[in-house]
Amino acid sequence: MLTALLLVATLDSGLAIVPRPVRFTPRTGTFTLTAATVIVTDRGTRELGGTLADYLFPATGYRLAVRASAPAGTRVISLGLDTTLKALRDEGYRLEVTPARVTIRALRPAGAFYAIQTLRQLLPPAILREAKVTGTAWRMPAVSIEDYPRFTWRGMHLDVGRHFMPKEFVKKYIDLLALHKMNRFHWHLTEDQGWRIEIKQYPRLAEVGAWRGQTIIGRPDDDSAKWRFDGQRHGGYYTQDDIREVVAYAQARFVTIVPEIEMPGHSQAAIAAYPELGNTGDTLSPWTSWGVDENILNPGEPTIRFYQNVLTEVMALFPGRWIHIGGDEAPKAQWKASSLAQQRIRELGLKDEDELQSWFTRRMDEFLTAHGRSLIGWDEILQGGLAPNATVMSWRGTDGGIAAARAGHDVVMAPTSHTYFDYYQVADTTREPLAIGGFLPLDTVYAFEPVPPTLTPAEARHILGGQGQVWTEYMPDPKRVEYMTFPRVCALAEVLWTPREGRDYGDFVRRLPHQLERLAVLDVQYRPLQNTLGTTTAEGHTR
Ligand code: ACM
Repeated sequence: MLTALLLVATLDSGLAIVPRPVRFTPRTGTFTLTAATVIVTDRGTRELGGTLADYLFPATGYRLAVRASAPAGTRVISLGLDTTLKALRDEGYRLEVTPARVTIRALRPAGAFYAIQTLRQLLPPAILREAKVTGTAWRMPAVSIEDYPRFTWRGMHLDVGRHFMPKEFVKKYIDLLALHKMNRFHWHLTEDQGWRIEIKQYPRLAEVGAWRGQTIIGRPDDDSAKWRFDGQRHGGYYTQDDIREVVAYAQARFVTIVPEIEMPGHSQAAIAAYPELGNTGDTLSPWTSWGVDENILNPGEPTIRFYQNVLTEVMALFPGRWIHIGGDEAPKAQWKASSLAQQRIRELGLKDEDELQSWFTRRMDEFLTAHGRSLIGWDEILQGGLAPNATVMSWRGTDGGIAAARAGHDVVMAPTSHTYFDYYQVADTTREPLAIGGFLPLDTVYAFEPVPPTLTPAEARHILGGQGQVWTEYMPDPKRVEYMTFPRVCALAEVLWTPREGRDYGDFVRRLPHQLERLAVLDVQYRPLQNTLGTTTAEGHTR
C-alpha cells in the first residue's frame, strides 16, 4: 500500500510534462544526475550538448563534460540524430530514461532540443534556479517517451507598441515559449502609440515615433472631452544590435521570430515621424489613447517605396521566412476624402478603398516574395482580394481562415474567442487589474480547436497552427504581461503540440500546479488558479 502510494506520488510529479507528450511509458527506477554524468553527443547535436550542460549548471553546480564518447560504465546523457526517425518529422524526439543512462534521439536538432525541454521537466523544479541548490537529489523517473507536435506553427504574439517591453523581458518570454515547445514569436513592433525598431534609413521612426508624451488613464470614454492622461512620457525602441541579439537568442531556442510592421493602419507613430506618409499633411504625435485610429498611410508611390525600404532592413535583421505586414483595422475615411487615393483607385481600375488596400498589400507581397520571404497579415487582407502568396492570420473568428484555406493559402488561427490573452480570465473582474474586456477562461483556451471541422483534409493541411495574442494597452509592464499570459500559454501550448485525442482538461489541470511551480522558480507572475479553472472540471482537483 505504502509503495503504491509512493509510486503514484512519483509519477504524479515526475511526469507532469506540459505540453503532454504523445506517448510515454513509465519504467522502473530513476536516473540520478551527478557531477560525473557525461553528455555524449554526435556532430549534429554537439551544440545542443552545450545547451543542455548550460541548462543544468546553475542549479546543480555541475559543469558536465560534453564529449564524443565516454568509457563504459559512465552514466551518460546521450544525444544523437538518427536519419531513420523520419516518422518523428522535424521537431519530434525519442527520450529513454533508465537508471543507467538517458538517451535522446531525433531526426533533426529541433527534436533533440524539445527532448531537452522535456528532460528539464522530468527533474525537480529547482533545476530551473539560477544559483546552486543544495540538498536536492537530481533524479529523473525512468520513462520512455516518443513525442512530436501536432502543428508546425505554435505561436505567441507580443505587442510592444502600446507599451514598450525591455529586451531582457523579450528574451525571458522567448525562454518561456521554448519551455512550452512553442516555436513562433510574433513581435508586434509598430503601432499608433509607438514605433519600436531602429531603421537606419529613416532615423526619425525611432527618434520621434518611439516616444509619446503621455498615456490615457483607463479606457477611453466615447466622449473624448472626458479623457484624462498620466502626464508621463512613455517609450523606447530596440536598436538593430538589440534586434540581432534577440534573433540569435531565439534561434538558439528554435524560435522563429515573425516581425510585424503594420501598414496601412496602426501607423500614427510613423506618420508623426514622417508626415509625408499620411493623407492630411497634419503634424501628428504618437497617439496617447487606445482604439482604432483614423490616421492611415497614404497609397502613394513614395510611401510604398518607404515601406519597402523599411522591409529591406527588417529582412536583413530577421532571417525567418515570414514578415507580418499587419493590415488590420485600417479605416478608410481618409482615403475616401483623399484626391491622391481616389486618383489611385481610378488609375488602377479598382472598385473601392478595400481593393486599394489589397493593391497596397499585393505590392508588399511581390516585394517580399521577390526576396524569398512570405507575407503574412491579419484577415482584413482578404477583404479586397488576397495577395497571391499571402498567409492569413485569422483573428476575427475563423471565417477568414476558412476562406483562405479553401483558396489554397496557409493560415494561422488566432481567433479572439480562444486566443486573445488581453481578455479577462475570470468572470468576476472586480478584483482583477483593468483589462480591455472580454472573457477567456483557461478551459476555453484548452478547448481551442484550430482546424475547423468544415474543411476537407486537403484544405485542413493549410492550417499551420495557432497563436495567442497579447495586446498591451492595459499591460504597462512585463509583470502584467506575465499575469495575463500565464497559465493560459500552458493550455495553448498543449492545444498546439499534443494530438487532439491526447488532450484531457482534467489531466492538464492535474499537471498544471507542477508547471506553475516551475514558473514560480522562473519568477513568472502567473495568475493564481483561484476561480480560473472554469466549468468543465472540478476545481478542487488541484487544492
Ligand atoms: C487585431 O486584434 N487588431 C489584430
